[in-house]
Amino acid sequence: MKIKFVDLAAQNLEISERVAFEMESVHSATSYVGGHQVESFEREFAEFLNVKRVIAVANGTDALRIALLALGVGPGDEVVTVPMTFIATAASIVQTGARPKFVDIDPATGNMSIPALRSFLESLPRTERRAVRAIVPVHLYGLPAPIVELKEIAAEFNLKLVEDACQAHGARIRTGNQMVMAGTVGDVGCFSFYPGKNLGAWGDGGAVATNDEELAQRISLLSNHGRLSHYAHEICGYNSRLDSIQAAVLRAKLEKLDEWNERRRVIAAAYRELLSPLDAQPILEPADVQSCYHLFVIRSARRDAIRNALLQKEIECGIHYPVPLHLQPALAYLGYRAGDFPASEALADTTLSLPMHPHLDGQEILRTVQTVASVLTQANEPLAAQRRNASPAVGSASSDA
Ligand SMILES: Cc1ncc(COP(=O)(O)O)c(C=O)c1O
Repeated sequence: MKIKFVDLAAQNLEISERVAFEMESVHSATSYVGGHQVESFEREFAEFLNVKRVIAVANGTDALRIALLALGVGPGDEVVTVPMTFIATAASIVQTGARPKFVDIDPATGNMSIPALRSFLESLPRTERRAVRAIVPVHLYGLPAPIVELKEIAAEFNLKLVEDACQAHGARIRTGNQMVMAGTVGDVGCFSFYPGKNLGAWGDGGAVATNDEELAQRISLLSNHGRLSHYAHEICGYNSRLDSIQAAVLRAKLEKLDEWNERRRVIAAAYRELLSPLDAQPILEPADVQSCYHLFVIRSARRDAIRNALLQKEIECGIHYPVPLHLQPALAYLGYRAGDFPASEALADTTLSLPMHPHLDGQEILRTVQTVASVLTQANEPLAAQRRNASPAVGSASSDA
């Protein structure tokens, strides 16, 4: 029997009654863009995150682009991010007119490396440093980036901090003796509600979270035609809004998010224990953070052999991501070369995402690990690492748009 990478049908069963009820109210109000459902979702997601404001937008890419624009990023500016992420992180920077600058990741966590960021910033002559306006760390796979240290560096170098929390709904970070949500420590946090996310809509959706009221106002203007009222436009903004139907689904799923994330954490713990005798290194979860396990990722030099064995047994898996962004044709104009970011390139060559969703059962976890083990306990298996030849079948288990 097939093992699914994500199981949205099982999620839908848990929320169907609540969604049916909310859909009635959408249809009776005939308010399909914005309106009561969207306002309620913005308020409820802000309460969940414990931030002052959430502004719903059309998708996660827009959340990043609009957040950067609202912070004043534009042509001539540079924005620092990582190459090991989905294209949208860098594309949103490009869309503002700014230039992405990459720094490498920490090989143990896959997240932005603090020493790499510091050495990049310190290596720049003062005149060039002035062009750098913001840092965009990604909470990759749902594991929070070292956001407290990043905030200190942002303050030291007078940079804005934009959290790409598109994979990290409900992930937590220790600050002092408190646990706070990913996406709430920087100037803004940006979320995607693409269907496969931990909090996913039935279509596209996104949101920006912030504690800065003035910034929230600019984000809201930019995302809705620069509107002060229906026909009073302060600026020429964008049309990037959330539909009521998506908001209704998101409200129903938000009620379940902590419980579903907890189930993901239990599944991750089971995977870790069962995989521990094998040479399949799961991404490290540092003690001061709680991943929301958007993905459960292992690393192995025999990644391609494991992937083939899983696919043969109808166990869906994915590679996030087979080509780091500095080697993507779309960003070739930035002038980076293979070898520039060795940790990102090594992760791209070895990373494999196993099935992970809140409805995965014990038998499915066991079958998956047994299949991984069947490869890793065979002698003389050819090495993996055919990054740039990764087969299109990989994309079928997508967590991204
Ligand atoms: C890390 C990251 N950033 C940005 C995005 C963009 O979000 P969206 O697809 O909603 O535009 C995604 C979505 O897949 C993502 O995974």
